[in-house]
Amino acid sequence: MKAVGIRNGKGNADALFIEDNVPDPVASSGRVVVAIKAFGLNRMDIMQREDKYPYPLLPESGKILGVEFSGLVEDVGPDCVSGFKIGDKVFGLAYGGAYAQKISVSEKTLLPLPETLSFETAAGIPETYFTAIQAIHLVGGLQPRETVLIHAGASGVGQAAIQVARQGGARKIITTAGTDEKCALCRELGADVAVNYRNEDFAKVVERELEGKGVNLIIDLVGQSYWHRNTACAAMEARIVLVAAMSGSMVEGFNLRALLNKRLWVLATTLRTRDVEYQAKLRDRFVEVALEHLSTGRMRVALDRVYSWTQIAEAHKRMEANVNAGKLVCLVDS
Ligand SMILES: NC(=O)c1ccc[n+]([C@@H]2O[C@H](COP(=O)([O-])OP(=O)(O)OC[C@H]3O[C@@H](n4cnc5c(N)ncnc54)[C@H](OP(=O)(O)O)[C@@H]3O)[C@@H](O)[C@H]2O)c1
Repeated sequence: MKAVGIRNGKGNADALFIEDNVPDPVASSGRVVVAIKAFGLNRMDIMQREDKYPYPLLPESGKILGVEFSGLVEDVGPDCVSGFKIGDKVFGLAYGGAYAQKISVSEKTLLPLPETLSFETAAGIPETYFTAIQAIHLVGGLQPRETVLIHAGASGVGQAAIQVARQGGARKIITTAGTDEKCALCRELGADVAVNYRNEDFAKVVERELEGKGVNLIIDLVGQSYWHRNTACAAMEARIVLVAAMSGSMVEGFNLRALLNKRLWVLATTLRTRDVEYQAKLRDRFVEVALEHLSTGRMRVALDRVYSWTQIAEAHKRMEANVNAGKLVCLVDS
C-alpha cells in the first residue's frame, strides 16, 4: 500500500511524501483492516513528525502518523465480536497509522458511520471528541449549571469541548481564541462568550461575566502563558484540566498558595497513551453523549479545509501557522 512517509525519519512539513510499497496491515485477533477514505490532522502529528513528541509513544503507534480516520472495512480478524462486515462504512481512533491507504485497528475503537455523516467529516471526529469528552466529563466531572472556560476554543479539541459542555448542561461557556473569525465560530458552536485573547485579558472577562465568582471548570490547552490567570479566575474548588501546553510547560514564580487559597483541583490527562480498554470506554461514552447529535447535526465538526493527501505538506503548514479555524482533513484519493 501507499502511506505518508517522512524523509530521513523526521523533519519539517516538506519532509512528508507519499511512500510506495509499505507493507499492508493485517487483521489479527480482535482487529479490523479498514481501507481509508479520509484522515484527520491533529497537532500531535506535527510533534511526531519533528520527533519531538512529549511522551514516550506506545509501540502500537508505529512510525506512520495519524490517529483518526474513516473508510470501508476490508478485512475482519479472528475473535472479533462487534459484528463489523467487509464493506461497512466506519470511522475510528487509532494509536497511529491513519496517514495511509489501509490501517489495522482494534474493533474496540471503531464505530459504524452514520448515513448522514460524510467520510471527510467523520475523519475529523474521534480524536477531538474523545479528548473533549474525557476532559469535560471523565476527568473534569462537569455538573449541570456549572460555568466552563475553554481555551483555544477554535482548535479541533476546543470546538468539540464547547459542544460537549453545552450538551452537558453548562450554564455559561467562555472561550478564548486568537482572531475575531475564530471567536465567531466558537459562538456559533455554542459558546456564550468568546474572548479574542490578542485584544482582551480573558481573566478580566471571566471576572466581569461571572460577577467575580470565578469559573468552575477550566479546560486548558495552552499551559504556561495562561497558568497564573487560570488560577486567578477560578472559582473556589474549581477544576483545571490540563490537556496540552501549547505555549510551554514551565511556569516561573508560581505560588502554591494560589491552589490552597481556593482549594483548586489541578488535573491532567492524555488520550493516546491510554490502553485500549480505557479508549473503548471512551468510545462508548462518545456514543452516549455525542454520536446521535453529530448524526442529526445538533453537534458538528467545523471543517477548515479538506485536502487531497498528496497535499499533506500544505495541510501541515496551515496547521503550524495556527490559521485553521476547525479541522483539517485529507482525502486518501490516489
Ligand atoms: N491530552 C490529550 O489527550 C490531547 C488530545 C488531543 C490533542 N491534544 C493537544 O491539544 C492541543 C490542541 O490540539 P488540536 O489538534 O485541537 O489543535 P489545532 O486544531 O491545531 O488548534 C490549535 C490552536 O491553538 C491555538 N494556539 C496555538 N498555540 C497557542 C498559544 N501559544 N497560545 C494560545 N493559543 C495557541 C491556535 O489558535 P488561536 O489562533 O486561537 O491561538 C491554534 O490554531 C495540542 O497541543 C494537542 O497535542 C491533547
